[in-house]
Amino acid sequence: MAFARRLAADGHDLVLVARSEPQLKTLADELHTAHGGHSDVLPADLADADSLATVEARLADTTAPVDLLVNNAGYGTFGPFAELPVEKEDGLVRLNVLALLRLTRAALPPMLARGRGSIVNVSSVAGFQPGPYEASYAASKAFVTSFTEAIHEEVRGTGVKVMVLCPGFTRTEFQERAGVESDSVPGPLWQDADKVVDAALQVLRGGGAMCVPGLLNKAAPVLGRLAPRAVVRRVSAIAGRRLHSS
Ligand SMILES: NC(=O)c1ccc[n+]([C@@H]2O[C@H](COP(=O)([O-])OP(=O)(O)OC[C@H]3O[C@@H](n4cnc5c(N)ncnc54)[C@H](OP(=O)(O)O)[C@@H]3O)[C@@H](O)[C@H]2O)c1
Repeated sequence: MAFARRLAADGHDLVLVARSEPQLKTLADELHTAHGGHSDVLPADLADADSLATVEARLADTTAPVDLLVNNAGYGTFGPFAELPVEKEDGLVRLNVLALLRLTRAALPPMLARGRGSIVNVSSVAGFQPGPYEASYAASKAFVTSFTEAIHEEVRGTGVKVMVLCPGFTRTEFQERAGVESDSVPGPLWQDADKVVDAALQVLRGGGAMCVPGLLNKAAPVLGRLAPRAVVRRVSAIAGRRLHSS
């Protein structure tokens, strides 16, 4: 929503994708009233292959080219892996990994043919280290970061920009959906979604490969690289256990 509001305010027409059609229509109306412009509503469950195919087709439609793809949809699960419902873990990989991969693949050829266009893949600081008690989520985001950095290099010099966004704790519906108690996260670690979007679009404009918004979040990958892997794993487990038991 924060991306949609910012891009509409900047004068872009949008294609809004999520599962909830009524919410998409409400947002499209809100954006039209506030900024003019037009938002197409394309309801789709990106974890479902048939539904995902409709969005891939929209991205491949060269009669109405998409200038910027934001692969934002994703969710987390939280708890000991052996106890988490396997269908939820399966769906997480289909949404966070497979859908993002397929939509990137669908968007790139028309962008490369036009010599312009951008893709922002939303990852997380959780992807910089293994995430005990969010094992699948952290691993899915490690994939997103590595995959996107690789494609960034592949398209270098083509006019197409591909960037990974790695936010930390951001105020959205994410924590509630993941079953995490937000009160257990210290205040200074939180960021507003609007600020995350501003930072992302600024780095994208500059042609950067990765945006990690916020000073505290920027420190995480640096410390993660400096410390021995065993230490990183243990510290990550202590943090995960705290969140899980709160
Ligand atoms: N919030 C954080 O603290 C945080 C931190 C780091 C990274 N991230 C990443 O940021 C991204 C956005 O998360 P958020 O914080 O904005 O979470 P959110 O408030 O839960 O929003 C998730 C969005 O994705 C849509 N969505 C979920 N499942 C979908 C599906 N199967 N098919 C299509 N759309 C789907 C949701 O709409 P419907 O439910 O209507 O489908 C909703 O619009 C995620 O990739 C997340 O991993 C978030």
